[in-house]
Amino acid sequence: MTGSGPRAVSRRGLLAGGALAAGGALGATVAVTAVGSDNPATRPAEMTPVGELGLAVESFHGTRQAGVATEPQAHAAFVALALRPETDREALGRMLRLLSDDAARLTQGRPALADTEPELGLLPARLTVTFGFGPGLYQAANLDGRRPPSVAALPAFRIDRLSPRWSDGDLLLQICADDPLTVAHAQRVLVKDSRPFATVAWVQQGFRRAAGAEPGRTQRNLFGQLDGTANPKPGAPLETAVWVPDGPAWLRDSTTLVVRRISMNLETWDLLGRADRELSVGRRLDTGAPLTGTDEHDEPDFDALGSGGLTVIPDFSHLTRSHVTEDRLRILRRPYNYDGVPSADGTADSGLIFASYQADITRQFLPIQRRLAERDLLNEWTTPIGSAVFAIPPGCPEGGWIGQQLLG
Ligand code: HEM
Repeated sequence: MTGSGPRAVSRRGLLAGGALAAGGALGATVAVTAVGSDNPATRPAEMTPVGELGLAVESFHGTRQAGVATEPQAHAAFVALALRPETDREALGRMLRLLSDDAARLTQGRPALADTEPELGLLPARLTVTFGFGPGLYQAANLDGRRPPSVAALPAFRIDRLSPRWSDGDLLLQICADDPLTVAHAQRVLVKDSRPFATVAWVQQGFRRAAGAEPGRTQRNLFGQLDGTANPKPGAPLETAVWVPDGPAWLRDSTTLVVRRISMNLETWDLLGRADRELSVGRRLDTGAPLTGTDEHDEPDFDALGSGGLTVIPDFSHLTRSHVTEDRLRILRRPYNYDGVPSADGTADSGLIFASYQADITRQFLPIQRRLAERDLLNEWTTPIGSAVFAIPPGCPEGGWIGQQLLG
């Protein structure tokens, strides 16, 4: 599934399973019927021309799950579920079969089984649903021996101000698409089908630039910084950093995810001058170039000295403290911005849903996070308020389900 990039769903593909393609003028009023639904919905197809963006499809089936190496979509919902006490290994299997079936359909532009809003299932807009297993899931299944050892509660960092409202969780559904309505519908279907097995622990919704607004450009966060420049490149660097290369079937082609909700204090950040903002990270705000270079992808020179004899890139800048050169130690950051409702006095509730993928949290994420927690100029304006870790199990072939290698 990975690496192939999005494709447009064909009209024939959409018609399969009882769903209608919305693309182009078909010149007829046709029934849109969810499989198993008694309530066919109708709409005049000639009134709903659809753009390529809405019809673009990411594969669901494959050796690895989509939504990791996938070019980040514009919108995301991270939905963490807490398993009900009675959800054991067998029930987990039933739940994951059901949710995998929903995801397999919706990502391909087909309504879910008994979809109550089947029209909302027709535009996948590169929808991906990525399943993550928290430590509690392995316990519930009585399979703690198969938990990747680094998927365990993170140590407490002195910068943390964590709230249970945004932390932990047994099963994560990372839902991403270029259309927010598609994300909302997928979230609704998956949460509804989870109800017999789990409750909702937390949901975090995030966004990046609208799809197509700045093609090929690194995204900006709400401090205005280009965020994602130094990610491992597709090919060998990304392979090495992200995917587990071998081991038993439930481990091979898996990865891990750390989700941290990090609030960004825009009130105090706004008081900083531009030069100080750039020093705190070690990169320019306009181009994202390191302070020692001119282009975003120039290599930073951490030894270059300025006129005062100090390094041009401050030793405690975010860049210096987080910098890693070896691929096996790097992380793939795939963050989303969040922007809540400001308080009555106008104080922003903004930040980053920091999401990083790595083959091993202990080897890759933790050393970076330790260095940042110990000393990072950016800490002055950022506060982690939520934290969760998940294994991202391998993908599944057609007819299979996510978690099958572990629970089946
Ligand atoms: C709100 C919190 C954060 C903000 C605003 C932020 C922002 C940035 C920015 C602007 C860059 C430079 C451009 C780039 O390469 O993407 C960067 C780089 C980086 N950040 Fe963060 N970051 C945050 C939190 C974190 C956390 C929690 C970690 C990991 C524990 C992290 C790890 C990294 C790494 C590994 C790099 C690349 C360094 C390199 O090799 O050049 N960041 N971040």
